[in-house]
Order: sequence, then C-alpha cells, then structure tokens
Amino acid sequence: MVKLFRCEICGDPYIGESAPDNCPFCGAHKEYVKDIKEAEVNFNLELNDTDKANAEYALKVEISNAAFYACASNNSEDEHGRLLFKALAKVEAEHASIWKKILKLDSIPAGDDTCSDTNSKNLEESHARETKAIQFYGKAANEAENARIKQIFLALVEIEKDHLVFSENS
Ligand SMILES: [Fe+2]
Ligand SMILES: [Fe+2]
Repeated sequence: MVKLFRCEICGDPYIGESAPDNCPFCGAHKEYVKDIKEAEVNFNLELNDTDKANAEYALKVEISNAAFYACASNNSEDEHGRLLFKALAKVEAEHASIWKKILKLDSIPAGDDTCSDTNSKNLEESHARETKAIQFYGKAANEAENARIKQIFLALVEIEKDHLVFSENS
C-alpha cells in the first residue's frame, strides 16, 4: 500500500510504497525523506546577515545552473544527454525553490545562462559548476549560525557531489 512521505530539505511530498533512496525532487539523501507524520520542515527562519547573504547567493547559483542545464538539454546531440541534462535542470530548479521559500520571494527570476552545443563541453562545464557549488555550500554550511540553514547546505553538498558522477564517468 502506498504511503505519503515528505522531504525535509525541499519540503515536497511523495507518494510511494517506500521512501525513495533520493528525494525525486531535490535529490536529498534517504535520511531526509520521512513518513509525513515524522518529517520536520521549516522555511520560516530568522537569518543573520551572513546566512541571508549566503542564501541569496545560493539562489543565484541554482537559477544559473538550472538555466545552464535546460540549455544543455535543448542542445543535446542525443536522447540520453537530453534526458540527463533535463533531470539535472529539474533538480537545480527545485533547489532554487528552496531558497525562494527561505527568502520569502514571490517568484524565482528566470536565468539566462547559455551553454555549448556539444554534450562533452557541457559535461565539462557541469563539472566546473558543480565543483564551485560544492565549495560554496561547504563554506556556507560552516558559516551557518542557523541549524536549519546548516542542514540544507550540508544536504546540498551531498546532492551536488552526486552530480559529479555524470561528468566523471563520461
Ligand atoms: Fe527534496
Ligand atoms: Fe543545486
């Protein structure tokens, strides 16, 4: 019988027989996807100046990466690349929506990043973008005063690290 689960990182609900290994929306690892009755989700936070500045920068990073991956999906030379970059674009857009909720914005500004027209060049750029995001999120997690902000940044480090596998194995 299916149950209702909820991801503690992005807050989105999931219906399934069991908890997925990764949140299908934001990619958070299994430990964050909980039975709806046990999930603790809070986006209504009081942020100090550092946490707020890091959240604002994270929003920009995610918007930029989502636009880049959408471009790479459109430009892909094959179906596999189209789907891979589409999946990555969806995850990064979900990350942008986490920061939208934390920053209490009405909408997410559209990204205008461009990309190359070959999958190999776009995978190289993916690697550079993910590496940069991992470094920034690690630093932001260390600096975080708010425990919830720290939790989100640490989860994002794990998720973006997972994405490196696609550029490393190609
Ligand atoms: Fe999630
Ligand atoms: Fe992301």
